[in-house]
Amino acid sequence: ADATRLAGRRVLITAGPTCEDIDPVRYIGNRSSGKMGFALAEAAAAMGAETTLVAGPVALATPAGVSRVDVRSAAQMREAVLAALPGQDLFIAAAAVADYAPAQAAADKIKKTGESLTLALVRTPDILAEVAARADRPFTVGFAAETREVEAYARDKLVRKRLDMIAANRVGLPGLGFEADDNALSVYWADGGAEIGVAPKPLVARRLLQLIADRMEHRAA
Ligand code: PMT
Repeated sequence: ADATRLAGRRVLITAGPTCEDIDPVRYIGNRSSGKMGFALAEAAAAMGAETTLVAGPVALATPAGVSRVDVRSAAQMREAVLAALPGQDLFIAAAAVADYAPAQAAADKIKKTGESLTLALVRTPDILAEVAARADRPFTVGFAAETREVEAYARDKLVRKRLDMIAANRVGLPGLGFEADDNALSVYWADGGAEIGVAPKPLVARRLLQLIADRMEHRAA
């Protein structure tokens, strides 16, 4: 039954880090490998969804049947997401978007002249919040990477960003989360929640999509 669970649905997923260029050779980024988001795209396609993956710079092969758009920065990820958004039924933001970017990328390599260097940074656009704020938004799922008070912070994000569901990585356990092959999620929605135990990311992705499909069907009913 899983193979047709998302048949006829259109799913848009972000994955990986973003890189915010400082100059032609340096950037600000984070430790996302893209594995979680790519596993979600692979699972969505396997469940029958027409799947689009907007990926930051990662070294991963495109899952079968998934259409992929590569981007580098948060600004480019926002553009690609907004361009692909019309007609989507589900949006999942698994990317670890850089929160701040250099106010301006230097055209030439910055020289090591001073003992210290100060970079002016500006906030990047919050892609998830922007999608969730739209009147015609799809079912919208965010991720949360928290180190403490996971449920309180995740539920705060659920409400503040007006999400339908949030998946909080269970952190503080070795071998999970960023870069790892395994993950574990605490998933919350307005009137409920569920735990997805430690498992390889493809299995965690499959379980999360089953929960999402349950909630989407519940809402449609
Ligand atoms: O890529 P992997 O190595 O497999 O690791 C997976 C992961 C840990 C990166 C993934 O499971 C995950 O948690 N992704 C989101 C990490 C994150 O950036 O969390 P956050 O709490 O900073 O952001 C909250 C949500 O807002 C996320 O859905 C994020 O995609 C979204 N966001 C954040 C900032 C921004 N400017 N735009 C956004 O859309």
